[in-house]
Amino acid sequence: MAFEIQEQVDLTPYNSFGVSQVAAYFADIQDPADLSQAREFAASKRLSVLVLGQGSNTLFINDFPGLILYMNNRGRQILPGAGMLRAAAGENWHELVMFCLQNSLYGIENLALIPGTVGAAPIQNIGAYGVELDQFFVELEVFDLKTGEIRHMSKADCQFAYRDSIFKQDLGQKLVVLSVTLQLSLEPVLEIGYTGLKDALVGQEATPQSVFDAVCAIRSSKLPDPKQIGNAGSFFKNPVISRSKLVSLRELYPELPAWDTEDAELVKIPAAWLLDQKGWKGRQRGGAAVHEDHALVLVNRDNASGEDVVLLAQDMSSSVLQSFGIALQTEVRII
Ligand code: EPU
Repeated sequence: MAFEIQEQVDLTPYNSFGVSQVAAYFADIQDPADLSQAREFAASKRLSVLVLGQGSNTLFINDFPGLILYMNNRGRQILPGAGMLRAAAGENWHELVMFCLQNSLYGIENLALIPGTVGAAPIQNIGAYGVELDQFFVELEVFDLKTGEIRHMSKADCQFAYRDSIFKQDLGQKLVVLSVTLQLSLEPVLEIGYTGLKDALVGQEATPQSVFDAVCAIRSSKLPDPKQIGNAGSFFKNPVISRSKLVSLRELYPELPAWDTEDAELVKIPAAWLLDQKGWKGRQRGGAAVHEDHALVLVNRDNASGEDVVLLAQDMSSSVLQSFGIALQTEVRII
């Protein structure tokens, strides 16, 4: 099919919240070679450009006046080096996890059922149940919208951190991920320390398959399926606070959970727990609501606009700031 740029495209099917904003221009990128043409088009009309995978971490609060690059290139390739694998940005992440399991490439079972594409995975360094993408990351290929060149970026270049990377900073916004290369293990590597996961595996042998099944079961029981009710997973990041702050908070809230971080002075605490204390589960504002079973997940309950979601999120973070003195940061990208 010849490459074309569409106009006035309804974004409802392209964002997992299912909000209905319109993009002025939209390009379905099945072949990365088409990016040069898309780049020239944007430059000639002075359009801002937004890269979109499956839109599972993006909330549109307005129509988008620029060009959307919908990354839809496909391909998975097991490379000659033991356990090396390259996948195109437009591949579905969960399907890649299943592909790895079927091909005895181990390590990413804990990242099963994370919505979105392979190309989106490094943007926020996806993580779940004690595993993060950067542990398996080797390099990626990007198209640079500023120069029109394709280049490779190493793990150090990507500056991964908790739900963060260079792609979330100004510099990185001009880079379109084309493919990602991972180093997986030929032997099972099991990470089953995360409380909920450990509990789910009691009485079973831990194998890559049983861990994969348990992760799928936990996620399906706690997190709403975006195909049934619009949502973008965790709306806020889990805050990282100092150990002394934790001690003072625990004087009032002895039950407050906390996880160690790489920095001995800092701990991570669950935003969901803070929000739950403030009674947010199930509350609604306009068409947007907090999920009944998980206080960190905002859902499109009744034809919500992006603004409904943002107003609800603002009220939630104000209440946490007031009660706990902690400023929540959004994990979801707001456009
Ligand atoms: N909790 C509550 N109330 C709730 C929900 C949870 O008090 O409504 C408590 C739980 O009891 C538990 C703690 O909060 O002690 C953590 O909950 P959970 O295990 O559900 O994980 P989370 O911190 O809310 C993070 C990630 C998820 C990931 C899970 C599992 C972030 C922002 N979120 O959630 O990632 O799946 O851990 O590893 O780091 C995502 O990024 O979109 C996402 C879903």
